[in-house]
Amino acid sequence: MPEDSPNFLRQAVPTQPKAAITGAYPTLRLRRNRTHDWSRRLVAETHLSVDDLIWPVFVRDESCPDAEIAAMPGVRRFTLSELSDAVGHAAELGIPAIALFPYVEDAKKTPECHEAVNGDNLVCRAVRQIKAEVPGVGVICDVALDPYNALGHDGLVRGGRVLNDESIDLLCRQAQVQADAGCDVVAPSDMMDGRIGRIRACLDVAGHQDVAICAYAAKYASAFYGPFRQAIGSGAALKGDKKTYQMDPANSDEALREVALDLDEGADLVMVKPGMPYLDIIRRVKENFSVPTLAYQVSGEYSMIQAAAQNGWIAGEAAMMESLLAFKRAGADGVFTYFAPTAAEKLRAG
Ligand code: PBG
Repeated sequence: MPEDSPNFLRQAVPTQPKAAITGAYPTLRLRRNRTHDWSRRLVAETHLSVDDLIWPVFVRDESCPDAEIAAMPGVRRFTLSELSDAVGHAAELGIPAIALFPYVEDAKKTPECHEAVNGDNLVCRAVRQIKAEVPGVGVICDVALDPYNALGHDGLVRGGRVLNDESIDLLCRQAQVQADAGCDVVAPSDMMDGRIGRIRACLDVAGHQDVAICAYAAKYASAFYGPFRQAIGSGAALKGDKKTYQMDPANSDEALREVALDLDEGADLVMVKPGMPYLDIIRRVKENFSVPTLAYQVSGEYSMIQAAAQNGWIAGEAAMMESLLAFKRAGADGVFTYFAPTAAEKLRAG
């Protein structure tokens, strides 16, 4: 902007910090620091560590014979008898936390979502087992009705509408049975208005002051969740889309309002979801609030990398590591990723 430009014009342009220009070619050559492996390592601005990884884990019972998920090559649904070994391995690799997602048989899906609040449902049994057998790993439970809902939505549906406040009553009870089972973190992914505050209050009344809340704060109505819905068997039930409660991908300011509300209501961690198409949102959230901010590299992002790798179109491992590092560079403190064990092994190997 020239010095003599009119004041109003100068003020209209936001003042961005400029990258420091410290010299000029040919004395200054930025390639010099890129010459060696040691020098590249020395000047790296961002680092990915196993401490940044959260592993989403699918669980099934006898009602689901299939371990394999066609749309997510390399991801399995674990039975409870397989679960402790898998989670134990993740813990040995240093992965701090897992997030549990159940495959629920159709017979247990109802319009009233009864199974969501059953203290002996698959997720609660999984939590009790992991806490007994792999106590050191953090356990995160998803709070939303979709796995249990005959209509596939995250909230209660009546007359074709997803009800807000009535859904929260159920979500509070769902969070409470998960906390009773011993989970460390409840993660409401439902996007109802006001649920964080009410879940916090319910947990506190029930004596669960130490159970944290990870709010899926900026969760977008995304096409990238497709493979997940196959993995938990909710895709067939879902009629229509989730646009009346999940966010419009066009919006960014609104994400900051969602995050502000969830923090006000007591969220300990906030999340942006999906991940890679929303790195700009992660950056804005981190810069505006300076709170623990997580990203979710969702099923569709995972499957795209895997599919391209399987076709020989990209180098899968390198793309995996690059995608995870990108979340750190954008400002995320941690990443939910189906790659967690593979990435952890790669990080360990160096
Ligand atoms: C459900 C939920 C979804 C995901 C996590 N929790 C799907 C959805 O909102 O439809 C998506 C995760 C993924 O795609 O990996 N409340």
